[in-house]
Amino acid sequence: MSTSPHANGRKIRFNILRYNPQAADDVPRMQAYELEEADGMTLFIALNEIRDKQDPSLQFDFVCRAGICGSCAMLIDGRPGLACRTLTKNLGAEITLAPLPFFELIGDLSVNTGKWMRAMSERLQTWVHAREQEVDLTRIEERMDPELAEKIYELDRCIECGCCVAGCGTARMREDFVGAVGLNKIARFRLDPRDARTDADYYELVGDDDGVFGCMSLLACHDVCPKNLPLATQIAFVRRAMVKQGFE
Ligand code: SF4
Ligand code: F3S
Ligand code: FES
Repeated sequence: MSTSPHANGRKIRFNILRYNPQAADDVPRMQAYELEEADGMTLFIALNEIRDKQDPSLQFDFVCRAGICGSCAMLIDGRPGLACRTLTKNLGAEITLAPLPFFELIGDLSVNTGKWMRAMSERLQTWVHAREQEVDLTRIEERMDPELAEKIYELDRCIECGCCVAGCGTARMREDFVGAVGLNKIARFRLDPRDARTDADYYELVGDDDGVFGCMSLLACHDVCPKNLPLATQIAFVRRAMVKQGFE
């Protein structure tokens, strides 16, 4: 008989990659846990149950539990995804979890995407470089065309989870590749009429093999992005503009 009021009876086996790089004597290993699936169970709920009831040493990250903060990204059966938005019922009875590759490992399923995202943002200067007259605080900011605002907003939905980078073959080969997340940011600032930068400025930032010319159109980024950002189209726009710029 079921022990939980919400249990649906299925037993799930979790195979989780464990490793604490801070502990000198630790080695990477798979560890198995079993628990009973409950209705509406997400990987967030399952991992918390494992940590509460079976293994308090298990490391993983969550903040919002709602697909907003980007901190719970991990490899779920080999595919990058958000643990808080993944229902166990959509997976098999045996689930393999591993930390996102590419990023600095903190321990077990926890990686330091924030450090990489910050460095990438500083490198690509992902903030509005205001035109001079807009610094005049006595002026009322011009109204933006709602359609354009909507296009910018769509690209701003990126939660910097790192799934696109973890799934990208180019990122595995080039550690300085800015990834789809970086190219999406360039696409976003190119659209913004408040930004004074020109394509010549963007060419300086991403007009090389660590930028848009390193992208081999593998499109895993587009497939795994949990926010369904139109990454393939945006990368194509940036590439076209940078090719044109290269000939000017
Ligand atoms: Fe995550 Fe998508 Fe942003 Fe990449 S582009 S960091 S996959 S939300
Ligand atoms: Fe990588 Fe996406 Fe380009 S997966 S190679 S950034 S299309
Ligand atoms: Fe914030 Fe999953 S916990 S996106």
